[in-house]
Amino acid sequence: MRSFLFGGLVALSSALGASAANFNSSAYSDAATGIDFQRWCDESTGYCFGLALPETVDSDFIGQLFVPLSSSNGWGGVSIGSTMTKSLLIGAWPNGDSVVASLRLAQSYTNPGAYSGGASLEEIPDGTSVNSTHLTYTFLCRGCVVGTPTTFDKTMDSYFFGWALSNTSPKSPASSDATLNYHAAGFGNFQMVLSQAKSAKYSTWAAKAKPSPTTATPSASASAAPSSTPSASVAPTVGNSTYDYIVVGGGPAGIITAQRLAETKKKVLLLERGVAHTVQLGNKNALPWNNTLTPHDVPALGSSLSKLGLLDEYLCDDTAYMAGCVLGGGSTINALGFIYPPEVDFNDKWPTGWKWDDVKAAASRLYARNPGSILPSADGKRYNYGMYDVLSEFFKNLGWKSVNQQQQPNEKHQVYSYPSWSVANGIRAGPVRSYLPLAQALDNFTLRLQTKARRLIRRGGRITGVEVQTASGAIEIINLSPGGKVVLAAGAMSTPRVLFNSGIGPAKQIQKVKSGSTGITLPPQAEWITLPVGENFKDHGQYVISIQTKGNFTAFNTSSVVSGPAEDIQNLYSEGSGILTQGGHRIQFWTSNEGTDGKTRFYQGSCSVDTNGVITMKLYNTHGATSVGVLGIDGSGSTIMDTDPWLQTDADKESLTRFLQGLLDDMKNSTVGLTPDVSSPAEIIAKKVGGDHFVGTAKLGTDDGRTGGTSVVDLNTKVYGTENLYVVDASIHPDLPTGNTQAIVMVVAEAAAAKIIAAGDSALDSSPSASVSVSAPAQKTAYASSAIIKVSHTPISPSATVEPTSDCNETFTTTVTPTVTASADPISGPAGSVKRASLTTSPAVAADAIAPEGAASVTVVTVTKEIVVTSTTTITVMPTLA
Ligand SMILES: Cc1cc2nc3c(=O)[nH]c(=O)nc-3n(C[C@H](O)[C@H](O)[C@H](O)COP(=O)(O)OP(=O)(O)OC[C@H]3O[C@@H](n4cnc5c(N)ncnc54)[C@H](O)[C@@H]3O)c2cc1C
Ligand code: HEM
Ligand SMILES: *[C@@H]1O[C@H](CO)[C@@H](O)[C@H](O)[C@H]1NC(C)=O
Ligand SMILES: *[C@@H]1O[C@H](CO)[C@@H](O)[C@H](O)[C@H]1NC(C)=O
Ligand SMILES: *[C@@H]1O[C@H](CO)[C@@H](O)[C@H](O)[C@H]1NC(C)=O
Repeated sequence: MRSFLFGGLVALSSALGASAANFNSSAYSDAATGIDFQRWCDESTGYCFGLALPETVDSDFIGQLFVPLSSSNGWGGVSIGSTMTKSLLIGAWPNGDSVVASLRLAQSYTNPGAYSGGASLEEIPDGTSVNSTHLTYTFLCRGCVVGTPTTFDKTMDSYFFGWALSNTSPKSPASSDATLNYHAAGFGNFQMVLSQAKSAKYSTWAAKAKPSPTTATPSASASAAPSSTPSASVAPTVGNSTYDYIVVGGGPAGIITAQRLAETKKKVLLLERGVAHTVQLGNKNALPWNNTLTPHDVPALGSSLSKLGLLDEYLCDDTAYMAGCVLGGGSTINALGFIYPPEVDFNDKWPTGWKWDDVKAAASRLYARNPGSILPSADGKRYNYGMYDVLSEFFKNLGWKSVNQQQQPNEKHQVYSYPSWSVANGIRAGPVRSYLPLAQALDNFTLRLQTKARRLIRRGGRITGVEVQTASGAIEIINLSPGGKVVLAAGAMSTPRVLFNSGIGPAKQIQKVKSGSTGITLPPQAEWITLPVGENFKDHGQYVISIQTKGNFTAFNTSSVVSGPAEDIQNLYSEGSGILTQGGHRIQFWTSNEGTDGKTRFYQGSCSVDTNGVITMKLYNTHGATSVGVLGIDGSGSTIMDTDPWLQTDADKESLTRFLQGLLDDMKNSTVGLTPDVSSPAEIIAKKVGGDHFVGTAKLGTDDGRTGGTSVVDLNTKVYGTENLYVVDASIHPDLPTGNTQAIVMVVAEAAAAKIIAAGDSALDSSPSASVSVSAPAQKTAYASSAIIKVSHTPISPSATVEPTSDCNETFTTTVTPTVTASADPISGPAGSVKRASLTTSPAVAADAIAPEGAASVTVVTVTKEIVVTSTTTITVMPTLA
């Protein structure tokens, strides 16, 4: 997926402002074990990895991980290859006084699963220790040299390895299958000189190894499923409140939508899987020098959260790439860039009903509450803008135009501007600050934190509730009120998971859920709704270059901010002024070119300073790019990239190359004095970093995906094939915007909320669309207990004796022989027709289908519905949890 060796290294060195570093291993004799290693250490974190080999390399090696810990917390890892994916990985972390380690293999950039090859780790106790600041793990890796691409080959003289470091321990450290969080404390590559790692003494050293109970003995069946994953045998409880709207995901789209829905006085529940980052909502990590703020509130830290180790606690551990799993989603952890979308972002590929003229009122509503700022310091001054002076001169000399990007959002060709940030009153703005308090003032609004939606409970196209998992691991079903609606806003990386888990999406992905280890109960296959979820996956490609200048501007030292910045800076900040009110950028610029396919493509540059006198320029290829990827899911429930969304088309590659070549030429010819660290577009492209502007995984459009179209939601943002399921987050954007995504995501959420409100109750009455009436006003139906009931005669008489069989739990069959009572007239119809009816069963057959031991506590069952009339009439009963 990432082809170039130094992909991660560049990201890190630019993040840390590191300049020259040594990437080759060197000789190191370990006093504790007497082993002579070839070892490489990272200068800024102190992480080291050592390797020892026999004179003739066979299948084993000895390794030593030296991992700096943060107050006894963290994990360190090594990749026996340059990339994270497809290479053998070894991770190690403390569990009290001992070390737990495991062999992993990653398919994508998320918690790697167990390595299923025949390799194992054996600890060398002399060289293994833990204290509060460091972990040392020395081990024999048996069967670990398997050749490229997984590891180096026996005959190689040198090879690039990778490393990764986190300050956060896994949540279940005793387990070698523990879910690892993102390595926010550092990662990158180094070169291991294999030829120098060989020694005649190897066999004496290897003999010190003891198969240790703490090390992983991987087996093909092991999986990296999170330990909190409930098995199908966990009985869900059913919440006793119901809601008119359940909004899943408290990111920017979810908060805005939930607040607007709550304004209609309907009962609204907002579910967020993460915690809140603000002191006001209970976060305890207040700054030592200001007890009303946490580090994430301070704009100046927005670009440094990763380097300060403040990102990993809020990053999702089950998404294909970076996403925020905290209240506010990406808007809580991002770099605050707030780019007003130009009209072309809508007018180009959004359908009628979603053109700029259609959404501009929504944009005005957003900007009235969350305008962002290009001059956030209350005293009206700009601080530390020396770099702006250098680059603006460069662009001015090229004939580019200086614009105010908020007032002239449509100017996106050969322009530069002061940066625009989502900041207000000196602190990080965004819907957590600008919308949520308005919702919380209403008593028909409820926010539940640390509550993760697992799947939707549905009957055909009708969603009746949401199955959630709470912080304790408990499973709960929260039901909709009659006529209620579910709105998904879990983000472009996670909304697809909720859909796949609910039997909505390509059959291939739903099958992966079915055969996976998450214990998700899917609807019967006949009920799956086939839609191209995950298939219009797009992102801005991001490329970073460092540019030496003659400027004497400085890098603001963000590492002092958490503990306490200088007094003058603090004093200014207490008045809402100064450098702390500004994000990390100093200038943004845009231009465009026309591709070989005749299409116009846009480019953005966001520039900041990590090292004195050096510009860090992040370049994005944005609106107009034609590359598309595919987002899928794996057996552990993580979303993964089946196909990545970057530079998949020749025209994208050619246009980007031409833009980069032009920029390099302009710098070379400039009198301003700009010396980039790269000399060719190919070098820049090879250094592609990250991805965090994902869109399109549940595309909005008129071409219904059930019948071969590309769209998952209709013009009202309702999922095709459903009666009451909507999506409002970045997933629905059919196209990539010209600038960073958060502002356009918020505009679209404002517009979507208005459409959902306008669709109103009429879209859904309180009873299932049926040819028969329903006795129970509020159905609480669970697919978990779906059963096939064969009826002995046809048509069904009001009271028929049936013999249930279950396709999900055999216990069910043995315990119940209920009578089914149709509340309506006898049902008949031509073979193959589908009818709905209200049925009561006696005795209760319900939830005991999934939890036989809990049957006593389940009071009833009833109301189900799909009746397929066949020659031997078959009724599919989905009993109710009451
Ligand atoms: C590291 C990073 C930096 C970025 N920098 C910028 C920037 O500077 N400027 C910019 O404009 N954009 C930036 N972005 C992108 C921007 O933040 C996103 O486009 C935006 O947040 C998308 O909003 P969303 O509401 O669609 O989804 P998200 O922000 O992803 O929000 C989804 C929410 O749903 C929650 N959730 C997910 N699954 C579930 C579930 N099953 N149950 C309950 N809750 C769930 C998540 O915890 C999260 O709160 C950045 C993104 C990242 C990750
Ligand atoms: C033993 C464990 C791990 C090791 C050794 C490891 C190693 C690496 C290395 C060497 C890179 C850079 C090279 C590349 O891009 O392929 C990388 C990138 C990445 N890893 Fe890991 N990783 C581990 C676990 C994880 C986990 C648990 C997550 C997330 C939960 C994760 C998320 C990522 C992401 C998002 C990137 C790309 C970052 C960027 O380019 O900005 N990794 N990893
Ligand atoms: C912890 O271990 C490291 C590495 O072995 C060592 O350098 C350090 O002195 C130890 N610290 C304490 C407090 O013992
Ligand atoms: C659920 O019912 C119990 C008992 O009647 C009550 O105490 C509780 O407040 C209810 N919870 C909600 C969320 O309504
Ligand atoms: C703390 O931050 C708040 C909010 O920005 C601000 O009003 C207050 O003055 C700050 N206090 C200090 C001591 O800086």
